[in-house]
Amino acid sequence: MKLRRLVLMLGVMVVAIGGAVTALGTLATEKVPPADKSVETKVNDLLSKMTTEEKLQQVQLLSDGQITDADARAGVGGVFSLTDPAKINHFQHVAMEESRLHIPILFAYDTIHGYRTVFPVPLGAASSFDPSVAQTDATIGARESATVGIKQVYSPMVDVSHEPRWGRIVEGAGEDPYLNSVFAVARVKGAQGSDYGASDKVVSSVKHYVAYGQPEGGRDYNTTDMSEQRLRNLYLPPFKAAIDAGAGTVMCSFNAINGVPGCANHYTETDILKNEWGFDGFIESDYTAVAETRACPPVTPNEGPCGHGTAADGPSAAANALMAGTDSEMVSTYIRDYGQQLLSQGKISTARLDDAVRRILRVKFRAGLFDHPYVDQAKAVDPASFLTTSDRAAARTAAGKSMVLLKNEGQTLPLDPAKSTAVIGPFGDDQHDMLGPWWGQGRDDDAVSLLTGIKAASTGTVTFTQACNRENNFDPPNNVNPPLEPDQEICRDDSGFAAAVAAANNADQVVLALGENREMSGEANARSELDLPGRQQELIDAIKATGKPFVVVLFNGRPLDLTEVAASSPAILEAWFPGVEGGNAAADVLFGKVNPGGKLPVSFPRRVGQVPIYYNHEPTGRPCDTTFKWNSRYRDLPSCEPLYEFGYGLSYTTFSVSNLKLNSHTMRANGAGVTATVDVKNTGSRRGDEVVQLYIHDPVASISQPVRRLRDFQRVTLDPGQTKSVKFTLDSSDVGFYDNSGRFVVEPGTIDVYVGNSSSDGLKDSFTVVR
Ligand code: NOJ
Repeated sequence: MKLRRLVLMLGVMVVAIGGAVTALGTLATEKVPPADKSVETKVNDLLSKMTTEEKLQQVQLLSDGQITDADARAGVGGVFSLTDPAKINHFQHVAMEESRLHIPILFAYDTIHGYRTVFPVPLGAASSFDPSVAQTDATIGARESATVGIKQVYSPMVDVSHEPRWGRIVEGAGEDPYLNSVFAVARVKGAQGSDYGASDKVVSSVKHYVAYGQPEGGRDYNTTDMSEQRLRNLYLPPFKAAIDAGAGTVMCSFNAINGVPGCANHYTETDILKNEWGFDGFIESDYTAVAETRACPPVTPNEGPCGHGTAADGPSAAANALMAGTDSEMVSTYIRDYGQQLLSQGKISTARLDDAVRRILRVKFRAGLFDHPYVDQAKAVDPASFLTTSDRAAARTAAGKSMVLLKNEGQTLPLDPAKSTAVIGPFGDDQHDMLGPWWGQGRDDDAVSLLTGIKAASTGTVTFTQACNRENNFDPPNNVNPPLEPDQEICRDDSGFAAAVAAANNADQVVLALGENREMSGEANARSELDLPGRQQELIDAIKATGKPFVVVLFNGRPLDLTEVAASSPAILEAWFPGVEGGNAAADVLFGKVNPGGKLPVSFPRRVGQVPIYYNHEPTGRPCDTTFKWNSRYRDLPSCEPLYEFGYGLSYTTFSVSNLKLNSHTMRANGAGVTATVDVKNTGSRRGDEVVQLYIHDPVASISQPVRRLRDFQRVTLDPGQTKSVKFTLDSSDVGFYDNSGRFVVEPGTIDVYVGNSSSDGLKDSFTVVR
């Protein structure tokens, strides 16, 4: 089966990225292994010895700033964000030696795209359409995290999102559930391996469960309201894939789903995740998410988080969360504080509390923490344990694979390294932003700036002119808004433009480094505009006026409105936040050492007003037609399409996809699959990568079906003139869908198949599903 194939393949995939065919975009339905009997015996034995107070401590998860010796002595369950191995060992010693039952603490951390060796942000990694990029990132991140004593990572983030305004779109794999599923599986396999008890592995926490990627208006934490079919067809699949790949833990989300907060949602947590999918690990709440379900008290100062209003007060919030299925409470302490009272009032049950504790202990036994609770401090402080030469090389390869060539008029790229190059722009000699949001323990000083990368790769002279400002607006004190608006943070004034123009005039070619700073992406960083902040467009116009060949290299964490940029620039390279080796990787691509092969995992709108705009939308009864009034369009936009669509990306060479053949034009609902083969040929003169993408469309169904749905892809490397046959297999799990009562249905009828190199391109054939 398809899912099985990916899980098996990733299980044996070597850490190095490479090979001609690197991405098998296939998914499988492998079940979570049944709980190991000896682990269950140990869990039950330990549970039987625990007092209620000890159980309530076990479901408590504290931050690095909260944990005290008294908590460790009382038997607290988990601690996150503590990365000092001496402190980790200290609290673990207290827990192991001074608590009554000697239960180890589970230490967790947000290793999202690297611990010290920072890889491209996940949205960038997804652009590679190569799951080995994510698997390598997670493998190195797990090893480095485990080296300091971390045993759980709050990753992968698998929130499908159609919201470029939302800052957290940077943390996932974009707008497609299938691509998110493939990358989720890769990250789980990288972090956990086949046994997360291994000394270089950690348990994954899949987040944010669920539908957090669709906040209304793109504002973080905002509510989500959606149909059952959308929930199941778009947002749940990556979680299911991660659980099937063995992910040991899950984090419930801040947002309300159809009015019910993610961490107090019995339907999603217990009915679906635990009962329907058989998940036997634990769910931790997001940060104070349990407390946030309370109505805000009349006098709010210092009363702590609140707001959803599905619980009247702290005790009710605790009861709702625990009884809904949340097993562990992050930062707020209501279950711990009110648990005894709630038990005696019959508002929570001992059975449910025991179930939560059992799940937490199960993960701790599987993680090997009882046998190996401590970290090797000598190794943890040895610089040789981190950011090794080979890890850096892997980060460079990953970043190169993640970059997307959006425009290349008149073959502006690749640049000639022997010519003189003017590097211009606020991000030209910038280490800080290369790391993106969630930089873990990455350091700005580790990062290679674009200028450094270009200097290393050039034989011609290289100059740098910043042209305008770029503020590092990071770490504002808690609860204080960043002091500047985006337009102030970047390129506030044009006083440096004259120097930039002079530098351009003195060079043969120009690299313009533009974008967003890393503080504009990530948690609580929604934007209401999607253009380049500040006066960056004016800078482009000034450079354009010199007549010099130039390329815009973009560093950013979300789809931007690039309409003006594209109209004024001959070449655009989307570099995302590329990680610690960003400058070297960008130089590799700019000078042609690496031929770009990334594709967009998310649509880039023409204008912010088109949002949400995504390739896998449903059709309407009045499909968009800009030449006619009475249909679904904007009267002030000349096109219904995004500027750059999902799956789009150019190369320095050209490819053709031909000869689509189906092995059968009939699929039996419970029978063998249908295979589709195409020939992909490098029709240009450089070796390069193409991502062959297979989409389906069900033109007649009981529920209107998306105009296209990605169901498979392969990234292939081809020499000039070389042709490869690429084969995909579809079965009924691909053509079926969830209806509004939550049933997976495979309906008889036609299925259209498209195979090509983007979501708007492709050869077409069809087959019929019969019972
Ligand atoms: C809040 C974020 O939403 C979540 O992604 C993160 O894992 C936790 N904070 C812990 O840092």
